[in-house]
Amino acid sequence: MGKDGFNLVVVANRLPVDMSITEDGTVDWQRSPGGLVTALEPVMQGADGAWVGWSGAPDLTADPFDVDGMRLVPVSLNQTEIERYYEGFSNDTLWPLYHDVIAPPAFHRQWWDSYRKVNQRFAEAAASQAAHGAIVWVQDYQLQLVPKLLRNLRPDLRIGFFNHIPFPPLEIFQQLPWRRQVLEGLLGADLIGFQRGGDASNFVRAVRRLTDLTTRGQHVMIEATDDAPARTVRAAPFPISIDSHHFDELARSPQVQARAREIRTDLGDPEIVMLGVDRLDYTKGIRHRIKAYGELLQDGRLDPAKCTLVQVASPSRENVGAYQELRDHVETLVGRINGEYGEIGHSAIHYLHHSYPPEEMAALYLAADVMLVTSLRDGMNLVAKEYVAARSDTAGVLVLSEFTGAADELAGAIMVNPHDIDGMKDAIYRAATMDSREQRKRMRRLRRKVLTDDVAKWSASFLTTLGGIPDPAHSPAPT
Ligand code: G6P
Repeated sequence: MGKDGFNLVVVANRLPVDMSITEDGTVDWQRSPGGLVTALEPVMQGADGAWVGWSGAPDLTADPFDVDGMRLVPVSLNQTEIERYYEGFSNDTLWPLYHDVIAPPAFHRQWWDSYRKVNQRFAEAAASQAAHGAIVWVQDYQLQLVPKLLRNLRPDLRIGFFNHIPFPPLEIFQQLPWRRQVLEGLLGADLIGFQRGGDASNFVRAVRRLTDLTTRGQHVMIEATDDAPARTVRAAPFPISIDSHHFDELARSPQVQARAREIRTDLGDPEIVMLGVDRLDYTKGIRHRIKAYGELLQDGRLDPAKCTLVQVASPSRENVGAYQELRDHVETLVGRINGEYGEIGHSAIHYLHHSYPPEEMAALYLAADVMLVTSLRDGMNLVAKEYVAARSDTAGVLVLSEFTGAADELAGAIMVNPHDIDGMKDAIYRAATMDSREQRKRMRRLRRKVLTDDVAKWSASFLTTLGGIPDPAHSPAPT
């Protein structure tokens, strides 16, 4: 930390840990779920920066504290804000809207008011941590107004924004009653990063059509005002990744290798183990995947005595109606298939509604002959990259939805359209019966990509680009 604050401040809805206060008043914490934390944690651990975020619990106020070389700065949300800003506007308006309206987005003015208010609180917390001229890197759809609010408070800062989820086509985005305010909020940044080129161009098109601003390629021109000079905002793709070398090493460790063997034994030594790993979210195509698998058993193309599917579905956003409905649907489907094809001592599907630490995940990836990533829409999907990073044995087959950001990068996978159940059945069957020579060829290709383009490269490329953008508002530090 410098004398007047941190030179790098990350602002995200969640801290990388879920906190609680124990009975004796000390802070207890566990790792938070999701791809954002998976990607950013290693970046921050090496950076001597501060991470501003919500603790994961209502009304929890705590002083900043240090975990694994990071300064964590908790932002407090009360119960109503959790309902309106987090469960409501973030996860029942923006999340479905930005994921191709797979579930219908709900538009409520009270939720929007709460979103604005909470974004202001995050902007103030970030402003209080940042040194003069620091870089502040705002993350994801929950905080789209922060760049503008922060620039109003601290014009000296260099502000980046990264959207971890897709940015929708104009025709969908324009349903949002507050579409203009969201665009203006984002345009407070100097650099706006997206997962794919298509997301960045959707954003620029929305700016062109819904504001009076001029755009040129990836750039949006903001004219000078009485208080601020003219500036340019750049919107560009920066596909995110994982700490692939760390994951590769973890999966090579004797403990993880032994645990992988143990998992296969505990599953009854089937010939083929298939695996799905997702937050229990309707964007992930879990139902489509299970339906395809169930039909393969029904058709007799896969033998339930020789094959099993392990589906990890970690609990997520459990107070949002669409997630409750999804859980009911998935659990009914799993129950039906297990009832039909299971035997004593053998389940067709092992359904696990839990989250697991990285060691156990690595062992599961190693134990799986076929990895099923069948999202209907997904910003990137880091599970696909983790599977590849874990397979130093160059065995295993990745089945990957075309609707993930990862599909733009992972050409060695078997691509599927999860809406096409017959096509997906053929792809899963092909993966389950692929000879080891082809597996090796594909996995080598996948590993070259995932091990080269890791999360350190992603953050360095974003931060270098941000640092290189001329910022006319930059004033010299006060002496
Ligand atoms: C996705 C989002 C993240 C979010 C994570 C977990 O990866 O892009 O912003 O943190 O899901 O969801 P949650 O609502 O539990 O934070």
